Amino acid sequence: MPKPIVIWPDKVLSTRTRRVAAFGAALDPLLEEMMESVRAAEGIGIAANQIGVPLAVAWVGREDGTFFEIVNPSVLEKSEPVSLEEGCLSVPHEWEQTPRFGKVRVRYQDRTGAEHELSAEGRLAHVLQHEIDHLEGTTFVEHLSQLKRGLIRKRMQKLQKDRSTEHVHGDDCDHD
Ligand code: CO
Repeated sequence: MPKPIVIWPDKVLSTRTRRVAAFGAALDPLLEEMMESVRAAEGIGIAANQIGVPLAVAWVGREDGTFFEIVNPSVLEKSEPVSLEEGCLSVPHEWEQTPRFGKVRVRYQDRTGAEHELSAEGRLAHVLQHEIDHLEGTTFVEHLSQLKRGLIRKRMQKLQKDRSTEHVHGDDCDHD
Protein backbone atom coordinates (compact mmCIF):
# COMPACT_ATOMS: atom_id res chain seq x y z
CA MET A 1 0.00 0.00 0.00
CA PRO A 2 1.44 3.38 -0.93
CA LYS A 3 1.74 5.86 1.91
CA PRO A 4 -1.25 8.20 2.02
CA ILE A 5 -0.77 11.77 0.86
CA VAL A 6 -1.07 14.43 3.55
CA ILE A 7 -3.99 16.78 2.93
CA TRP A 8 -3.63 20.57 3.24
CA PRO A 9 -3.76 22.30 5.70
CA ASP A 10 -1.35 20.22 7.78
CA LYS A 11 1.62 21.44 9.74
CA VAL A 12 4.08 19.21 7.87
CA LEU A 13 3.10 20.99 4.63
CA SER A 14 3.61 24.46 6.08
CA THR A 15 6.99 23.75 7.68
CA ARG A 16 10.26 24.18 5.78
CA THR A 17 11.85 20.76 5.29
CA ARG A 18 15.33 19.89 6.62
CA ARG A 19 18.31 19.74 4.26
CA VAL A 20 19.56 16.26 3.47
CA ALA A 21 23.06 15.49 4.77
CA ALA A 22 23.25 11.70 4.25
CA PHE A 23 23.19 10.66 0.59
CA GLY A 24 23.35 7.40 -1.28
CA ALA A 25 21.54 4.29 -0.11
CA ALA A 26 20.14 6.23 2.87
CA LEU A 27 17.72 8.01 0.53
CA ASP A 28 16.58 5.02 -1.50
CA PRO A 29 13.72 3.79 0.72
CA LEU A 30 12.23 7.30 0.97
CA LEU A 31 12.49 7.86 -2.80
CA GLU A 32 10.85 4.51 -3.42
CA GLU A 33 7.96 5.25 -1.06
CA MET A 34 7.44 8.65 -2.65
CA MET A 35 7.45 7.10 -6.12
CA GLU A 36 4.81 4.55 -5.08
CA SER A 37 2.58 7.33 -3.75
CA VAL A 38 2.96 9.64 -6.76
CA ARG A 39 2.30 6.80 -9.20
CA ALA A 40 -0.75 5.60 -7.27
CA ALA A 41 -2.12 9.14 -7.28
CA GLU A 42 -1.13 9.68 -10.94
CA GLY A 43 0.70 12.86 -9.99
CA ILE A 44 3.46 14.68 -11.88
CA GLY A 45 5.52 15.46 -8.81
CA ILE A 46 5.71 14.84 -5.08
CA ALA A 47 7.60 16.31 -2.14
CA ALA A 48 8.70 14.22 0.86
CA ASN A 49 6.59 16.26 3.30
CA GLN A 50 3.50 15.22 1.32
CA ILE A 51 3.98 11.74 2.79
CA GLY A 52 4.87 13.22 6.16
CA VAL A 53 8.69 13.17 5.92
CA PRO A 54 10.17 16.65 6.55
CA LEU A 55 13.27 16.30 4.32
CA ALA A 56 14.21 18.38 1.26
CA VAL A 57 13.59 15.65 -1.34
CA ALA A 58 11.12 15.65 -4.25
CA TRP A 59 10.36 13.82 -7.49
CA VAL A 60 9.81 16.02 -10.53
CA GLY A 61 7.92 14.64 -13.53
CA ARG A 62 9.12 15.30 -17.05
CA GLU A 63 6.85 15.72 -20.05
CA ASP A 64 7.68 12.16 -21.22
CA GLY A 65 6.35 10.58 -18.01
CA THR A 66 9.75 9.90 -16.39
CA PHE A 67 10.79 11.45 -13.08
CA PHE A 68 14.03 12.75 -11.59
CA GLU A 69 14.81 13.43 -7.96
CA ILE A 70 15.78 16.81 -6.57
CA VAL A 71 17.48 17.09 -3.17
CA ASN A 72 18.18 20.36 -1.31
CA PRO A 73 16.95 22.44 -4.27
CA SER A 74 16.82 26.20 -4.61
CA VAL A 75 15.60 28.60 -7.28
CA LEU A 76 18.49 30.75 -8.51
CA GLU A 77 16.61 32.87 -11.07
CA LYS A 78 13.03 33.27 -12.20
CA SER A 79 11.61 35.35 -15.03
CA GLU A 80 8.51 35.93 -17.14
CA PRO A 81 5.61 36.07 -14.68
CA VAL A 82 2.68 33.92 -15.84
CA SER A 83 -0.61 32.65 -14.47
CA LEU A 84 -1.00 28.87 -14.72
CA GLU A 85 -3.74 26.45 -13.76
CA GLU A 86 -2.43 24.42 -10.88
CA GLY A 87 -3.48 21.60 -8.61
CA CYS A 88 -1.83 19.46 -5.94
CA LEU A 89 -2.16 15.91 -4.62
CA SER A 90 -2.46 17.46 -1.14
CA VAL A 91 -5.42 19.62 -2.26
CA PRO A 92 -7.60 17.11 -4.15
CA HIS A 93 -10.03 18.26 -6.85
CA GLU A 94 -8.99 21.91 -6.68
CA TRP A 95 -7.58 23.69 -9.73
CA GLU A 96 -6.80 27.40 -9.68
CA GLN A 97 -4.97 29.96 -11.76
CA THR A 98 -1.76 30.56 -9.83
CA PRO A 99 0.96 33.19 -10.31
CA ARG A 100 4.24 31.54 -11.39
CA PHE A 101 7.23 32.19 -13.62
CA GLY A 102 7.63 30.92 -17.17
CA LYS A 103 11.37 30.31 -16.77
CA VAL A 104 13.48 29.26 -13.82
CA ARG A 105 17.04 28.31 -13.14
CA VAL A 106 17.41 25.90 -10.22
CA ARG A 107 20.22 24.23 -8.33
CA TYR A 108 19.77 20.84 -6.68
CA GLN A 109 21.56 17.68 -5.71
CA ASP A 110 20.69 14.15 -6.79
CA ARG A 111 20.50 11.09 -4.53
CA THR A 112 24.30 10.69 -4.65
CA GLY A 113 24.89 14.27 -3.53
CA ALA A 114 26.13 15.43 -6.97
CA GLU A 115 25.28 19.09 -7.71
CA HIS A 116 23.23 20.10 -10.75
CA GLU A 117 22.01 23.33 -12.28
CA LEU A 118 19.07 23.30 -14.65
CA SER A 119 17.34 25.94 -16.75
CA ALA A 120 13.72 25.04 -17.39
CA GLU A 121 10.65 26.53 -18.99
CA GLY A 122 7.05 25.53 -19.59
CA ARG A 123 5.64 22.59 -17.67
CA LEU A 124 8.99 21.54 -16.20
CA ALA A 125 9.56 25.05 -14.80
CA HIS A 126 6.05 24.90 -13.34
CA VAL A 127 6.54 21.53 -11.62
CA LEU A 128 9.93 22.62 -10.24
CA GLN A 129 8.41 25.75 -8.69
CA HIS A 130 5.55 23.75 -7.19
CA GLU A 131 7.79 21.08 -5.62
CA ILE A 132 10.47 23.49 -4.38
CA ASP A 133 7.66 25.52 -2.82
CA HIS A 134 6.49 22.37 -0.96
CA LEU A 135 9.99 21.79 0.43
CA GLU A 136 10.06 25.40 1.65
CA GLY A 137 6.73 24.91 3.43
CA THR A 138 4.45 26.52 0.85
CA THR A 139 1.42 24.85 -0.76
CA PHE A 140 0.14 26.45 -4.00
CA VAL A 141 -3.02 27.72 -2.28
CA GLU A 142 -0.80 30.14 -0.35
CA HIS A 143 -0.41 32.04 -3.65
CA LEU A 144 -4.20 32.50 -3.98
CA SER A 145 -6.46 35.18 -2.50
CA GLN A 146 -7.50 34.81 1.11
CA LEU A 147 -11.09 34.31 -0.05
CA LYS A 148 -10.25 31.41 -2.36
CA ARG A 149 -7.93 29.86 0.19
CA GLY A 150 -10.66 30.06 2.84
CA LEU A 151 -13.16 28.27 0.60
CA ILE A 152 -10.63 25.57 -0.26
CA ARG A 153 -9.80 25.13 3.44
CA LYS A 154 -13.50 24.46 4.16
CA ARG A 155 -13.74 21.93 1.34
CA MET A 156 -10.59 20.15 2.55
CA GLN A 157 -11.95 19.97 6.10
CA LYS A 158 -15.16 18.44 4.76
CA LEU A 159 -13.18 15.98 2.64
CA GLN A 160 -11.09 14.95 5.67
CA LYS A 161 -14.22 14.52 7.75
CA ASP A 162 -15.95 12.44 5.06
CA ARG A 163 -12.87 10.24 4.75
CA SER A 164 -12.62 9.59 8.48
CA THR A 165 -16.35 8.79 8.64
CA GLU A 166 -15.97 6.37 5.73
CA HIS A 167 -13.10 4.75 7.56
CA VAL A 168 -15.06 4.16 10.76
CA HIS A 169 -18.00 2.91 8.72
CA GLY A 170 -15.73 0.54 6.80
CA ASP A 171 -14.29 -0.94 9.98
CA ASP A 172 -17.67 -1.59 11.56
CA CYS A 173 -19.59 -3.00 8.62
CA ASP A 174 -19.42 -5.89 6.21
CA HIS A 175 -19.51 -4.76 2.65
CA ASP A 176 -19.21 -6.38 -0.72
CO1 CO B 1 1.74 19.63 -4.57
